[in-house]
Amino acid sequence: MIVSPSLLSANFADLKGEMDWFNRSTADWLHLDIMDGVFVPNISFGFPVLKHVAKLCKKPLDVHLMIVQPEKFVQEVKELGAYIMNVHYEACTHLHRVIGQIHEAGMKAGVTLNPATPVSVLQDIIKDVDLVLLMGVNPGFGGQKFIPHTTEKVKELRKLIDETGSKALIEIDGGVNQETGKLLKEAGADVLVAGNYIFKAPNPSDACALLSAL
Ligand code: DX5
Ligand code: ZN
Repeated sequence: MIVSPSLLSANFADLKGEMDWFNRSTADWLHLDIMDGVFVPNISFGFPVLKHVAKLCKKPLDVHLMIVQPEKFVQEVKELGAYIMNVHYEACTHLHRVIGQIHEAGMKAGVTLNPATPVSVLQDIIKDVDLVLLMGVNPGFGGQKFIPHTTEKVKELRKLIDETGSKALIEIDGGVNQETGKLLKEAGADVLVAGNYIFKAPNPSDACALLSAL
């Protein structure tokens, strides 16, 4: 399983220490949650902080923008050195154009769906995206309880991807732990994001390895 630990649950007073164990762990990507207090009811961190994290991080950056008009920040995300830029379906009036802009900037493009947004809205864009990020909770906060219906959405999305010949990966974000992770893997998930389960564990590196082994 590809694992993308979410920095949102890290100890912000010791980001260097967090990056030390992270770089030596089985983690594949680093998930970065950018919030604006408008699209979601919370504010996390922005580019001035992430610039320093990016320098310390030796693994690909998986950037999740929970902001309105994410197309305004394609250049900033690119300058961060991001591998993938995820934008919310609900935040983009012209999603097809935004996906094109992300690709033109040389990054992989991901589209994210909130829990109340059905997989069917992806029908006409699924072949253009590299990844679909399904929210397992309402975005904005770490440590929330997993919404069980998400596993059904993973199955539906797997079917859509297989039927259309899309190469998109399926990533899940929110409420992931060893138990929900196993269900998500069985449903067809390729990538798991985990914040609290990894960063709040007695041994984050071990928790990460357990998800990697799923
Ligand atoms: C929530 C964020 C998540 C968050 C997940 O809006 O998008 O990435 O960090 O946290 P956990 O894994 O604790 O639910
Ligand atoms: Zn996220």
